[in-house]
Amino acid sequence: MIYLRTIYLLRERFLTKTGYPFSLPAYRELERIDLTSSVTFLAGENGSGKSTLLEAIAYQCGFHTAGGSRANSYHVDRAEAALGDYIRLSWMPKMTDGFFLRAESFYQFASHIDEAERIEPNGYRAYGGRSLHEQSHGESFLSLFANRFNGKGIYLLDEPEAALSPMRQLAFLYLMMDLVKEGAQFLIATHSPILMGFPGATILSFDESPLAEVRYEETEHYQLTRRFLENRKAFLEETKPD
Ligand SMILES: Nc1ncnc2c1ncn2[C@@H]1O[C@H](COP(=O)(O)OP(=O)(O)O)[C@@H](O)[C@H]1O
Ligand SMILES: [Mg+2]
Repeated sequence: MIYLRTIYLLRERFLTKTGYPFSLPAYRELERIDLTSSVTFLAGENGSGKSTLLEAIAYQCGFHTAGGSRANSYHVDRAEAALGDYIRLSWMPKMTDGFFLRAESFYQFASHIDEAERIEPNGYRAYGGRSLHEQSHGESFLSLFANRFNGKGIYLLDEPEAALSPMRQLAFLYLMMDLVKEGAQFLIATHSPILMGFPGATILSFDESPLAEVRYEETEHYQLTRRFLENRKAFLEETKPD
């Protein structure tokens, strides 16, 4: 499903500001982002502004900007959403359920779940029956995806592949397919050529100014991985910095 259809950048407020995040090339001249698929990937170099956009959307959704859903209010430094007040979200229909997951703050999230379980034990029902701390990083990620997420919601994920082996990335891809069938929408910042290969997904490149849709085969992730795998020795010789 597509719930979040358009992200408007409030440019008139922009003009009064200089510096981050308005100075990022991806946002220059950008007026709106139309979301046309249930799954949208944000791809681009480190520092191109992917997390900035996810944080801003999470902020507007009322999700904790360090990761979590509306029900999760816990104390870690709440990452400020620099772009949060400069976007407007257009929904049809409006969706308030969902989740924002940042790889970096997953540890704090796991601790928060432990604390909630201590206060009101329910057997870690939504998290695979075990503290997330007692599962490996990858296992706990997948537990969360498999148990806590359900179809109808908007899921904002920042580099979920960080914890996942290639096999588990595939497992995650299949889980996503099921969730999409049940009505989920995903926005995912990723560097993974496996995740990006989700059938029918839209890929937005933050390396374009302003950011723009690209085909899977046009992404650097695909091209570079492919050339590397085809002949890694030649590839390394060709691309070695002087
Ligand atoms: N609070 C901040 N103040 C100033 N610059 C920031 C802040 N947060 C991020 N940046 C800079 O903005 C750029 C984009 O950051 P980010 O959205 O995290 O990129 P990405 O997720 O694509 O790697 C980076 O160069 C980063 O250093
Ligand atoms: Mg990031």
